[in-house]
Amino acid sequence: MNTSTVAELLSQDASSQIIEVKGWVRTFRANRFIALNDGSTLNNIQCVVDFENFDETLLKRITTGAALHIKGELVESQGKGQKVEIVVSSLEVLGDSDPETYPIQPKKHSFEFLRENAHLRTRTNTFSAVMRIKSALSFAIHKYFTENGFYNMHTPMITGSDAEGAGEMFRITTLDAKNPPLDENGEVNFKEDFFGKEANLTVSGQLEAETYAMSLGKVYTFGPTFRAENSNTSRHLAEFWMVEPEVAFMDLAGNMDLAEDFMKSVIAYVLEHNKEDLNFLDQRLFDEEKTKPQTERSPMRLIEKLKFIADNNFKRVSYTEAIDILRNSKPNKKKKFKYLINEWGADLQSEHERFLVEKHFKCPVILFDYPANIKAFYMRLNDDEKTVRAMDVLFPGIGEIVGGSQREERLDVLKNKMAELDIPEEELWWYLDLRKYGTAVHSGFGLGFERLVMFATGMSNIRDVIPYPRTPQNAEF
Ligand code: 4AD
Ligand code: MG
Repeated sequence: MNTSTVAELLSQDASSQIIEVKGWVRTFRANRFIALNDGSTLNNIQCVVDFENFDETLLKRITTGAALHIKGELVESQGKGQKVEIVVSSLEVLGDSDPETYPIQPKKHSFEFLRENAHLRTRTNTFSAVMRIKSALSFAIHKYFTENGFYNMHTPMITGSDAEGAGEMFRITTLDAKNPPLDENGEVNFKEDFFGKEANLTVSGQLEAETYAMSLGKVYTFGPTFRAENSNTSRHLAEFWMVEPEVAFMDLAGNMDLAEDFMKSVIAYVLEHNKEDLNFLDQRLFDEEKTKPQTERSPMRLIEKLKFIADNNFKRVSYTEAIDILRNSKPNKKKKFKYLINEWGADLQSEHERFLVEKHFKCPVILFDYPANIKAFYMRLNDDEKTVRAMDVLFPGIGEIVGGSQREERLDVLKNKMAELDIPEEELWWYLDLRKYGTAVHSGFGLGFERLVMFATGMSNIRDVIPYPRTPQNAEF
């Protein structure tokens, strides 16, 4: 006989067949009702034990968190809320739990507490729902690109270059930290290091993805990226996953179309395939919102918000227009912003992005044509020589979720820019080669995958949408 999953059993009709299931005890009530969960669904299956037929010492071992192997008959449920239940005929405790010390008791736990018990937190409804949705989003991303003619590529995690030019990289070295080899100037001699040069964990797969776009046409990379920025916020991780498509012969307008269509498509996918988990998270968030003052409550429920994104156009606004709006906005005039917007050229902070999306436009916004000097070296310079063909997609509750651009395809302009920023040509000779041999307009973007998961699940801290968050001073598990 085959073991069934809880999801399979709950979708069947009562058949009086003998079935087998394995899972973990969520609760054991009245020495009679076991709520069993195996991760296949949010729902538990109720397993009814007739205590007279079972040894008392065995029954005592049925505690929250224990792993069980159950055989029994699948019958129509007497109780409310489920169609079927199991009348247990045989029960084996595969792994005991300890009711005294087991952290995941059947009660409400704070997210802070669950973060400290991240190895067990997917045994709760909230975290199992989040992680099932995350898995579905990952599948939806691969599905979208595959169906739209993109090739998946794996860009290296170890690189010698700083794609974003922000210098926020983790060094990879096998040199002896206490006694590194020195060169004639007394500097650490990286020629003696493992790779014969300085190497880092990548901050983005973009530059390598560009090389493949300029031969395979449409590619994407989806992998871990690393940033040594000391940002202790609810939206930053030191290790996060990025989805980066890159397309030859596509300009900024095409890039915006792609980003919008892509985001709508993956959100529509989970709306269709993860109803049960979304309904649960929708209710969870609604209950949480009720505890907040009226003015701070989100105007839309989670599912409503996801549908809104899937069905409505993103608003496209130039940086210059956005600055005008922000400069004349109430919070700017009343000095409510932490960083006041006084002039063109200011870098936008999360408070400004969220104002534009949540208060002003009340829909996702794509900002484009940013000042050149607040963006990375590789972005296509506009004819005004002041702005670049950059775009950021801003989402309600999140702020920036996507960053991308049309790439500078002109060799001389790119070389000048690199010289201006002291980026050595020797380091990026291969990147410059793309502009020497068959250069063409091309574009791409990076979606922060965990930020997408935050949005789709309504979780407000990025540490709660990745199994084991890496943040400053924290690399537990
Ligand atoms: O805007 P970013 O820095 O863009 C790039 O790295 C480009 N090279 C992408 C490209 O064009 N191929 O990062 C892209 C996205 C951001 O919009 C944000 O969603 C996410 O990555 N992100 C982070 N997510 C979590 N923690 C961090 N520390 C993040 N930094 C960026
Ligand atoms: Mg960015």
